[in-house]
Amino acid sequence: MNTKVKKLPRKINVGDLVLEIPTLKDADGMLLLFAKNRDFIGRYLNRAIELNTKEIMQDWIQMLVTGYDENKRADYFLKKSGKIIGMVQLHRLDYRHGNAEYGYLLDQESTGHGYISKCVKVLDEMLFDIGFERLVIGANPENQGSQNIALRNGYTFEGISRHAYFSVYDNKHKNIMTFAKIKSDTQQ
Ligand SMILES: CC(C)(COP(=O)(O)OP(=O)(O)OC[C@H]1O[C@@H](n2cnc3c(N)ncnc32)[C@H](O)[C@@H]1OP(=O)(O)O)[C@@H](O)C(=O)NCCC(=O)NCCS
Repeated sequence: MNTKVKKLPRKINVGDLVLEIPTLKDADGMLLLFAKNRDFIGRYLNRAIELNTKEIMQDWIQMLVTGYDENKRADYFLKKSGKIIGMVQLHRLDYRHGNAEYGYLLDQESTGHGYISKCVKVLDEMLFDIGFERLVIGANPENQGSQNIALRNGYTFEGISRHAYFSVYDNKHKNIMTFAKIKSDTQQ
């Protein structure tokens, strides 16, 4: 870890929303969210299809907690009034080089309020503040909602990585659009 860079906190308030590194107690809430959104989330993220038992979910959460403790990732469960409504992940988090890549998802019922855009805005500010240089959002070309989050937050489209993602939902490889923001983009 670059000693100049401070670590992201375990819990972040975003208005009336809370971003929190999960514990094993969150397994049931996330299982419910994935079961309810198997198609809505599963068409873009395999985990909504694959994480389908309590044991698999707990193993996954344990991996996220270990990753956070070891400064390799920061996967926040998004809660509103104590209920899990989504997730914002920095699943490629490199404190040493100051790079990170997002992932996110919402319960379909909670879309349309700007919740993820607001979380990305707060996290972007925190990351650049603690010394990060480059942040990335990858989006499926069919996923306009995800692309909009990047564009709304001042990310620049950089190009397409061909067949970068294997979709369990469609049983085929998909291209990924890369959007990025570097520190100087925020200073114009
Ligand atoms: C991608 C996903 C998170 C987008 O959800 P979303 O609700 O559209 O995104 P946001 O939370 O940023 O909200 C933006 C919406 O809220 C509206 N909104 C309302 N108040 C807002 C505010 N204060 N700020 C920003 N947007 C606001 C926007 O107009 C937009 O709605 P629109 O698309 O109808 O114009 C969601 O569709 C999802 O979870 N999909 C399945 C999983 C997935 O695709 N993950 C990404 C993989 S790459």
